[in-house]
Amino acid sequence: MAVKIGLLGLGTVGTGTAEILLDPTGRNPLLGDITITKVGVRSLDKPRQVQFVEGVITTDLESIVNDPDIAIVVELLGGLEPARSLILQAIANKKHVVTANKAVMARHGDEIYAAANEAGVYVLLEAAVGGGIPIIKPLKQSLGANRITSIIGIINGTTNYILSKMTADGADFGEVLTEAQQLGYAEADPTADVDGLDAADKIAILASLGFGGRVKREDVHCEGIRQVTAADITYAEQLGFVIKLLAIAKGTEGANSQQLQLRVHPTLVPKDHPLASINGVYNAVLVEGNPLGQVMFFGPGAGAGPTASAVVSDIMNIVAILQSSGVSTTLDPLLSCVHQHFCQITPIEAIKTRFYTRFLSRDVPGVIGYLGITFGNNEVSLESVVQIGFQGELAEIVVVTHHVCEGNFRTALDEIRNLEAIDSIPSILRVL
Ligand code: HSE
Repeated sequence: MAVKIGLLGLGTVGTGTAEILLDPTGRNPLLGDITITKVGVRSLDKPRQVQFVEGVITTDLESIVNDPDIAIVVELLGGLEPARSLILQAIANKKHVVTANKAVMARHGDEIYAAANEAGVYVLLEAAVGGGIPIIKPLKQSLGANRITSIIGIINGTTNYILSKMTADGADFGEVLTEAQQLGYAEADPTADVDGLDAADKIAILASLGFGGRVKREDVHCEGIRQVTAADITYAEQLGFVIKLLAIAKGTEGANSQQLQLRVHPTLVPKDHPLASINGVYNAVLVEGNPLGQVMFFGPGAGAGPTASAVVSDIMNIVAILQSSGVSTTLDPLLSCVHQHFCQITPIEAIKTRFYTRFLSRDVPGVIGYLGITFGNNEVSLESVVQIGFQGELAEIVVVTHHVCEGNFRTALDEIRNLEAIDSIPSILRVL
């Protein structure tokens, strides 16, 4: 039985998806049973890499989600609206949905899954995180026997490219960003990537799957990479680290229940850590669970082909279900969303982590002593203090702490800022 699908969007990923579906030879036989009957685009005038027979391409996106013949709507528009409304309308019409849209799923997943469960349809999103890397289905199914303890990912290729290039060339953030934009690796408006928002959307989705509860996107503590300088990368190197933008979801036992840490920030990663060697636009996700231990997923986190590979795998999943059991209102719990509650998130001030901090100070007696005493008074134990370089007249003092409570660390910094000899604190980074 052929299954009719409608694509919303024919950009990079839409084109990649159509190319796979229109060329099924040598791939899974299920692909031969899928017909693209409509493709929704914003403009009919744009030149297209894939050709469809007359009438398939339309600017009337609503006609796709309302088409009674279409069983699966594949949303590849990106952005919040009209993606959210079209997904909800497709669900209301009892269509299954496949999406690559991390922004809409991270922010409106609760509403979308409640509607999908009510309507008895699937909303699958393998392509939303890690591009071509299989990570959603492994978390839902293959790793389901484990208690997940942490998910740590490099899940934004743009920032990983920028940090890798800064490390390789000793260059500063601004110049590498400009070059990345010229090469098409970074968007003209790089905000979502460089400020960590894209990674925050993705870790919200992964956390929800790994920790068995819904997650509010605004609960993800998010810091981007604009503050990372060539000097920090050099100091990190000397101390045995590389700097990566990590997205972290980690369970901590709270007083009464499990609490979840959710954060995105530039992080000093020990050079021998599995995530330290992930360079360029690649993504990787390190999952730790009990009894499994660690497993790392690595691969291309973006791009037409890899992302389309994930989109088509979701389409195939639904086609297989439609062909084997027909339309049913009983959803497979290993594919649908079965969460009933929101995870409890630990406030950032209460999280214990290690910090790297770079101070610029006048080179006068007593500054390092004052730092030691002030940190000590606030229960912040130091692992190392080095003074190597100068910026003009100002000495650079780099401090690495042991695991300390973020709130205590911030209080100590507020006191240190008041010392006259301290000019500024240009960098505060966390250490894995
Ligand atoms: N903008 C993302 C990245 C790719 O740089 O990784 C799409 O998720």
